[in-house]
Amino acid sequence: MKYEQINKVKEMLEQDIKSIFDIKELNDLKVKYLGKKGLISELNQLIRDIPNEDRKDFGQAVNEVRSFFNDFYDTKKQQFEEETLNKKLESEAIDISLPAAKVTQGAPSILEKLIEEVEEVCMAMGYDVVDGPEIEEDKYNFEMLNIPKGHPARDAQDTFYVEGEELLLRSQTSPVQVRTMLEGKGVTPIRMICPGKTYRRDDDDATHSHQFMQIEGLLVDKNISLSDLKGTIDIIVKKLFGEDIETRFRPSYYQFTEPSVEVDISCFNCKGKGCSICKKTGWITVAGAGVVHPNVLRMSGYDPKEWSGFAFGFGAERLAMLKYDINDLRVFYNTDLRESKIFDREESL
Ligand code: DAH
Repeated sequence: MKYEQINKVKEMLEQDIKSIFDIKELNDLKVKYLGKKGLISELNQLIRDIPNEDRKDFGQAVNEVRSFFNDFYDTKKQQFEEETLNKKLESEAIDISLPAAKVTQGAPSILEKLIEEVEEVCMAMGYDVVDGPEIEEDKYNFEMLNIPKGHPARDAQDTFYVEGEELLLRSQTSPVQVRTMLEGKGVTPIRMICPGKTYRRDDDDATHSHQFMQIEGLLVDKNISLSDLKGTIDIIVKKLFGEDIETRFRPSYYQFTEPSVEVDISCFNCKGKGCSICKKTGWITVAGAGVVHPNVLRMSGYDPKEWSGFAFGFGAERLAMLKYDINDLRVFYNTDLRESKIFDREESL
């Protein structure tokens, strides 16, 4: 009678295993047979009603069914796991004969590249590359450059003030001249350039930007004259635009230099014949410069009887526009990788 029960369960199990096709069905089957109220588990309960002498045989018979189930379960589980793994491997297979996906690559900013070129040629002449704050004190941006409060020259610079009248966004990199001289304490000769951002209240268009970059230069030593400035500028522009470029100085006016000059280079495009780049003049203006004003030296602790110097300020974007034939300033400040790529390729041609 009790054995009949075992056989019934076994037959049922043999039927059930025919329709197990995935791991979920397999686990459900385990619950059905080996769970707390599973069919095989319940067979064990029957043992109580079996006479002692038959219990062993009965137990063995139940165990056989259990082993049968476990063997089936283990084999099937392994089979399903292998199938899943194979499917995964198949879907992840790499076809090494396929063409590789193109990786988009950026290129160095052309403005940075130009600045680095100027840095290189200046460092070769013994200049240090220094930095200064973009939020600057009025004292350094104007006063110690010989531009006192109320001076009309201030108006031309359309300065952004940050706080009251004392803090501003530097309108030029020239305040770094003052900071460097103060560090030199009136006794150390100076050779420095400072490339950096400057700010002026300007509407942005193709040739104006509220933020632009200058490359400031300052040399302070004994017996420095305008001819030293001319030689230095000549070396820098020849490096940037080619050995056949000539430099000319035109008289100009800056409060912190005396004499002051406007630096022109011969047009690298038309070689002086006149074209659209040089506006038919054969010359292109690239910098302001001059011999450091005695007041500026004095205010920063250098005795003008003993020391002299020259200074210059290039417009970095202007140099880059000329060098790379760019006619819109905004190119430098957008982040379209295609732009810099084009210039990069042209450079390496
Ligand atoms: N700071 C001037 C400007 O922004 C440019 C300049 C002129 C810099 C003459 C100099 C200099 O160092 O000597 O217009």
